[in-house]
Amino acid sequence: MSASQTYRTLKLSENKLEIVNEQVGESNDAQLVMKPILAGICRSDVKEFLGTRTVRHDFGHEILAEIKSRSINNSLLPKVGDLVVLDPHVEIDRSSGFGELIVASGSTESLAKAFVKVPASVSPERLVFIEPLACAHHCVANLLKFEQKQDLQSLSVAVVGAGMTGILIGLLCRHYGAKVTIINRSEDRLGFLRRTSIFSDDELSLFGDIEQEFDAVIPTTTFLFPEVLEFSREIVKDSGLILLYGGTKSGDKFPNINNIAIDDIRRNQRESTITSKGKSFKLCGTHGATTDDFKSVIKLLENSSQDFAVEKLIGRRITLDGVPKTISEMTKKEILGKTIVEFDL
Ligand SMILES: NC(=O)c1ccc[n+]([C@@H]2O[C@H](COP(=O)([O-])OP(=O)(O)OC[C@H]3O[C@@H](n4cnc5c(N)ncnc54)[C@H](OP(=O)(O)O)[C@@H]3O)[C@@H](O)[C@H]2O)c1
Repeated sequence: MSASQTYRTLKLSENKLEIVNEQVGESNDAQLVMKPILAGICRSDVKEFLGTRTVRHDFGHEILAEIKSRSINNSLLPKVGDLVVLDPHVEIDRSSGFGELIVASGSTESLAKAFVKVPASVSPERLVFIEPLACAHHCVANLLKFEQKQDLQSLSVAVVGAGMTGILIGLLCRHYGAKVTIINRSEDRLGFLRRTSIFSDDELSLFGDIEQEFDAVIPTTTFLFPEVLEFSREIVKDSGLILLYGGTKSGDKFPNINNIAIDDIRRNQRESTITSKGKSFKLCGTHGATTDDFKSVIKLLENSSQDFAVEKLIGRRITLDGVPKTISEMTKKEILGKTIVEFDL
């Protein structure tokens, strides 16, 4: 690949989305140049566009790509022709996943950690879900840790919020043996899920139809609004567990409980025992994903493919030129299912 090659890429700056021409250029650090195959649009891309994402910036991070060139021959790095997905938790410099090419640079070790090699035997439509599945896996691994269990057999788990992450957490909890109920505020997302037949009717419910309590409740909504936390408290069993997953920001509190900083609990994956309204429950947090989560998810997609028909969750396929309009549309109305950007091969 020539160092002066030009490529079109989507840039987000000052809440403006623009497709610009960039040069591949040279770097003093190790550099990988990749050709994306599929990229997913994540809720956090929309939050970054709106300026409501308060911590890391990961614009265009759900990436499945093929390695086109690497600046150094090092056995740690993926090879030309390898398929990779991005682990956005590793610090590197990179262009957005919404581009004709992705150019990434950093130390050899960081690049090797950030770009996880994936098997060509799994379909691209499943591989592109690895990053959100890894975050969901981290959540379920934390649930196992806080419950001090090896699996979730005989546990009832309520996932509050049928957004993409809620769905993926539900799939993983069910794979690990839990009886799962996905609970949503309104009907549209449940209708979409019913049409995919990924969950049975009795695994899906509206908030108002819940009449039981659960061993574990995982709120996964856009933000952990007071009404979502209140609902989670209502439906958790005495001695049960609430695992905070959805968005939080510094200063957020659990309603009517003093001195519980939920952002700290979630981001630092802490555990606290709460007594409130006649119940005692554990309030715990989960945040991010590790290399082990990526590895576990790849194994699950290879060995338990029947449990992870995630390609059915793709709601819309677009091209690079359609990304700015789609992200801006997503700030105004809900697009059901995962939107996938396809690139010419
Ligand atoms: N802990 C972590 O490591 C981690 C990692 C990745 C993402 N996240 C967080 O997970 C969140 C969810 O991601 P996603 O992609 O699934 O997002 P999403 O598509 O924004 O999720 C939307 C869900 O939130 C529900 N919701 C929104 N406002 C609500 C309210 N006021 N009351 C009740 N339900 C409400 C929606 O219900 P309706 O269908 O009724 O609108 C829907 O089920 C992200 O915003 C992000 O902050 C956390």
